[in-house]
Amino acid sequence: MKNFNYKNPTEIIFGEGRIKEVGERLKPHAKKVLLTYGRESIKKNGVYDTVVESLRANGIEFVEFSGIRPNPYLSHAKLGADLARKEGVDAVLAVGGGSVLDESKAIALGACYDCDLWDFFSGKASPQKSLKVFTILTVPATGSEMNGGMVLTNEDTLDKFGFASPFTYPVFSILDPSVTLSLPVSYVACAAVDIFTHATEAYFVKEDTASFVIDRAVEGVLKSLIESTDKILQNPQDIDARANFMWTATLAWNGSLHCGVGIYGVPNHVIEHPISAIYDIAHGAGLAIVLPAWMKVFEEKYRSRFAFLARNVFGVDEIDDHKAAQKGRESLIKWFKTLGAPVSFAEAGIFDVDVEKLSSLAMGVMGSKGVALMTQDEIKKVLEVAIK
Ligand code: NZQ
Ligand code: ZN
Repeated sequence: MKNFNYKNPTEIIFGEGRIKEVGERLKPHAKKVLLTYGRESIKKNGVYDTVVESLRANGIEFVEFSGIRPNPYLSHAKLGADLARKEGVDAVLAVGGGSVLDESKAIALGACYDCDLWDFFSGKASPQKSLKVFTILTVPATGSEMNGGMVLTNEDTLDKFGFASPFTYPVFSILDPSVTLSLPVSYVACAAVDIFTHATEAYFVKEDTASFVIDRAVEGVLKSLIESTDKILQNPQDIDARANFMWTATLAWNGSLHCGVGIYGVPNHVIEHPISAIYDIAHGAGLAIVLPAWMKVFEEKYRSRFAFLARNVFGVDEIDDHKAAQKGRESLIKWFKTLGAPVSFAEAGIFDVDVEKLSSLAMGVMGSKGVALMTQDEIKKVLEVAIK
């Protein structure tokens, strides 16, 4: 194993009915918050009413900033930061999925700075402070509830970049699985693909292959993911399955599965981000298109790791690594199809695939992350395999 430092300061408040605690728990931290959310889901499923009631009962003032879209835009985050500054809020309370949480983190940073917010995403500047961020998660997928990361799209350039700061870890995140009962199974599928990819990116490409404690942890997370997803598809009201799914999502991307693995990259995220930026599809749908194609193009390079996945997660009984890797990939595609996730651009209804532009934007994403695992030609090959 490689040496590592690991610190995760976020408190998790997990369980059915916990949302109503938000006001009481915020009280020691903030008098006035910016309450951020998306479009309509939290008003439809009752989360908005519960949150507002709890804030009022505890005397916490709030200003609303809504309309955060999936694959959020830089310009909208700037508006939120302006409002936070103008209103003099002490903190941001984000209620929603990964997009709401991510944009809210950017707002919390932007409220403390006069510089161009994008400078943090492009690596030109590094933030040293932020407003405090608190979250109520409504889509288990991105891990944003327990990491310092955020992803925004600069709509002028279509660059969809992410970066992480130690200052934007949520102080606490409330994870109430009953809130996710309203999440349609079509979106559970996208979330499941995202979680699968979070757990496997480093598992496949990591520098240190002797960190087997992490391998076994990843495989456990993946098995739990498959089990809970299948149960949700059979019965969307299965609250235990929703709860297991929710915690699985957090474990997959809160940094704990990267301890000791040394240098690693996120090649599938690098290729996907331009896809959801340009075609405005769910991030998980984009990953379903990319991952099987990436595994095909990189079969030789990461064969032994794909064979591990095949044997230890999909139960493939095959001693030859090449055959095992192929069967693992087939099992993955079969599972994605069972979920209803698109495994090609064509299945996602995208027929105007601009390979040149997507690959060039992906090179920009890879540059922003600083780990160069692929050439532009290799990225093009992945995109071409993914076309149909
Ligand atoms: O806008 P509303 O009406 O709220 O609807 C949302 C949205 O349409 C809806 N929704 C949210 N909670 C719901 C619900 N519908 C019914 N019931 C509920 N309980 O779900 C839709 C999608 O929401 P979104 O927040 O976009 O989903 P997700 O959590 O998948 O977030 C995706 C974003 O996170 C980024 C992605 O790139 C993408 O922009 N990522 C962030 C990461 C991070 N911070 O670490 C890592 C990831 O790899 C990812 O890149
Ligand atoms: Zn992701």
